[in-house]
Order: sequence, then structure tokens, then C-alpha cells
Amino acid sequence: MRIPLVDLKTQYQDIKEEVLSEISQALDSMQLFLGKNVQALESDFAGYCGTEFAIGVSSGTDALHIALRACGIGPGDEVITVSHTFIATVEAIILAGARPVLVDIDPDTYNIDTSQLEKAITGKTKAIIPVFMYGHPADMDPVIDIARAYNLKIIEDACQAHGAEYKGRRSGSIGDAGCFSFYFTKNLGAYGEGGMITTSDPAIAQRCRMLRDHGQNEKYRHALIGINGRLDELQAAILKVKMPHLANWIQKRRSLAQAYNEGLPDSVIKPQEMPWGKHVYHLYVVRVPEREQLREWLENKGISTGMHYPIPVHLQEAWRNSGGDELSLPVTEKITKEILSLPIYPELTIEEVDIICKHVQEFVDTRLEIGIER
Ligand SMILES: Cc1ncc(COP(=O)(O)O)c(C=O)c1O
Repeated sequence: MRIPLVDLKTQYQDIKEEVLSEISQALDSMQLFLGKNVQALESDFAGYCGTEFAIGVSSGTDALHIALRACGIGPGDEVITVSHTFIATVEAIILAGARPVLVDIDPDTYNIDTSQLEKAITGKTKAIIPVFMYGHPADMDPVIDIARAYNLKIIEDACQAHGAEYKGRRSGSIGDAGCFSFYFTKNLGAYGEGGMITTSDPAIAQRCRMLRDHGQNEKYRHALIGINGRLDELQAAILKVKMPHLANWIQKRRSLAQAYNEGLPDSVIKPQEMPWGKHVYHLYVVRVPEREQLREWLENKGISTGMHYPIPVHLQEAWRNSGGDELSLPVTEKITKEILSLPIYPELTIEEVDIICKHVQEFVDTRLEIGIER
């Protein structure tokens, strides 16, 4: 028996008829450009997040890039974020022409260590991008206080955190703008590429709409230099079908996470849900010092695992090549060597989680037998 890290085929079978019908209608209409599916999805998504506006874009990377530029960030500016993220967070800052300033993370949430923020602020700092890694929000109150004190914008990187909550507020509604990815493995994933920006600021929303469409405010009148960053109608049609299932899919992920928390051995460090946060478990990430050995052990039992992400941004060749400073981020550097993502997706069963937990337990027992200190 094989248990994959993510299984998209089973989910597709459940929604196949509706998806094919929506795709067929979109193709029959041949309205393939910023049409009724994109509009309907934007309205559903804004309602879900609790924002005034949502702007469909072509990816999470473009969401971040466009949101930064819509907030007025560009050359000469600095933006504070983390190194423990998918590289797109940092790429977007560089694409917008600004300089990324990377700080360390909190060892419990794996998100920005807010005690590091003030030290990183200079006269050039214009924004903070807290990343909601794995589906758990960052601690936003200290971020908001510092942003207010220094007049900084907050752009949430909620690319992994559709539906996550901070003190009852949905991701995407806490900062000046929120950015989401519809990469196919995400909790809400397209069958191709897609992304969304959320905001309740009409000026930011208007600039995002223009920037995603070559800076146009009306056909062939380009007020800004933008990009081709539109969400396409077919992906929007698919996402519209998936939207009503999101709450149920998140609930399933949370139940599976609970089963992992109860079934995994004590010596494995499990993800934490802070009292102020709602985790949506895009990824279920544990920490073990012998990560490579456990990964191989599980692979031999037919269980796929992942690493999100094994090399932090500040240790990537691209960081050095783009003129990035040499940095020491001890928490980031330690945890990236220990993290292991176990299978999680709504169609995974509790029985399968139990099997995975049993194999992890056997691994731990074997290590104890041969005397490896934990
Ligand atoms: C934290 C984070 N930010 C940004 C992105 C970029 O999203 P996309 O792949 O849709 O461009 C991702 C996607 O993996 C992500 O996980």
C-alpha cells in the first residue's frame, strides 16, 4: 500500500461532473478573459475572507508582486520578511524593485519572530510580509503595532493559509492586503496556476486590478506599467466549484491533524496551534533530528513525505547572486534541518494516519534500541 503526500485524483472524482460542466459552459461562452467566473470567484473569496475586495491574479507570486507595487513599494524601499518560506515571497519583493530584509522565526509557530522586527527597521523600511507557514497565522498584533508606529504596510503571505484565522479574523483580512496561491496542491487549488489578492482598501484594489492587466484602466489606456497577471476564466470556473467545499476540507484536515497529534510518539515535535490562531494544516510538519533516516524509513514502508523547505532563502545561491547579505538566522537554520511533512489531504483516512503513526513509532523504537540519544 502506498500513501502519497497529496492525493488530488480522489478529490477530482468527487467533483468531476460539476467541474466538467463549468468548464464546458465557459468554453461554450468563449468568454475567457476576466469574465463572469473570475468576478463570481472574486466576490465569493472576498466574502469568505471578510474583505471588501478580492482580485484574481495568475499566481501567488504575482499576488505578492502586484500587492507590493499597489502599496507603493518599489526601488529604494526595504521589506521585512522571513527566510523560512517558499522563495516566491522574496522573489516578489525583488521583482517589485525593493530589497528584502530577512529575520528569524519563532520556534513554536515557524512564523516571523516579532521580537526581531524593530531591530530590522531602517529609514527605508516600507512594509512587512508575515508568512502564514503551513496554514498557521503569524502573531499579528505585534506586527500591527510596529507597522502603525513606523507607518509600514502589512502584506500577508497567506499563500498556504486559506481560511486560517487570527483572533477570529480570517487570513487576508488582517493586513493592508492578503495574498493567496491556488497552486494545485493548496487547500484551495486550481488545475493550473492562480492566485488572489484581498484588501478592503479601494485604492489598493484599483491599483491591483490595473497592475494585473498591463496597467490599463480602460482598454489600451495604460496608466501604469503592469504585468500580464490575470486569473484565467477556466481556472476561476474550477475554483468556483471548489469554494463551497473549502470549509469541510479544512475541517477534515484539522481532524487528521488531531489524529496525528494523538498517535505520534512524544519524542516527535508536532505542530502547535496557538490559542489565538486557527491552523488549517495545509501541511502537517513534524520535527525530528534524524529527519533523513525517518524519511527513508517511511519511504520504504510506502509512505511519501516532503520537506517544506529544506534550504532557507538566505542560504540559496539565488540569494547570494542577487546581492543578499550573509545572515545568521539560527532558528531557521536549525528547524530546516529537522522538518518533515507527513501526508495530509482531506481524503486521507484516520486509519491511514494510524498506520503512518505506527511506522513512526517503530522508527523511534528502533533508534532507542540502537542507543541513539534523543
Ligand atoms: C508561502 C508561499 N508564498 C508564495 C507562494 C507562491 O505561490 P505560487 O506558486 O502560486 O506562485 C507559495 C507557493 O507555494 C507559498 O507557499
